[in-house]
Amino acid sequence: MNIFILNGSPRYHGNTRAALQTMKTILEDGNTVEVLDVSTLKLSGCCACDGCKRNGGHCVCQDESDAVIQKIVQADAVIFGTPVYWWGMSAQLKMVVDKFYSQDSQFKTMGKKIGVIVVGANNMENPQYRLIHD
Ligand SMILES: Cc1cc2nc3c(=O)[nH]c(=O)nc-3n(C[C@H](O)[C@H](O)[C@H](O)COP(=O)(O)O)c2cc1C
Repeated sequence: MNIFILNGSPRYHGNTRAALQTMKTILEDGNTVEVLDVSTLKLSGCCACDGCKRNGGHCVCQDESDAVIQKIVQADAVIFGTPVYWWGMSAQLKMVVDKFYSQDSQFKTMGKKIGVIVVGANNMENPQYRLIHD
């Protein structure tokens, strides 16, 4: 299986990357696994121009989101990792997630396996984790 892991933490030696690295090591047995540090990319927020709806599903922004979206489309399974920032995912990962808009009709029918790893400072009973995960 081709597994694509996105690290939404800007801290290369942070907790999220450590968790994802452990996940990668486990999954590498029998799979092809790539980890991408989203914070290394030049990204912009979706500007809702609908340009992607007129050109076959490619973001028209001059950033690197289109290549990431294509990798997500091609992967059999995708794991999203993020630190909790104010009860949500990191802004870096959210910029990628918003660009799903360019492929939203496709994503609904792909049947892709999805995993989410959320790392926060609060205890596990805090509803923030469920809000992000679900
Ligand atoms: C801007 C910011 C907002 C944060 N908001 C929360 C929060 O709402 N809940 C929480 O449990 N932790 C919060 N934290 C703590 C981080 O989620 C926590 O330290 C996490 O382990 C950081 O992951 P990292 O080591 O990959 O950077 C916040 C940290 C930052 C920098």
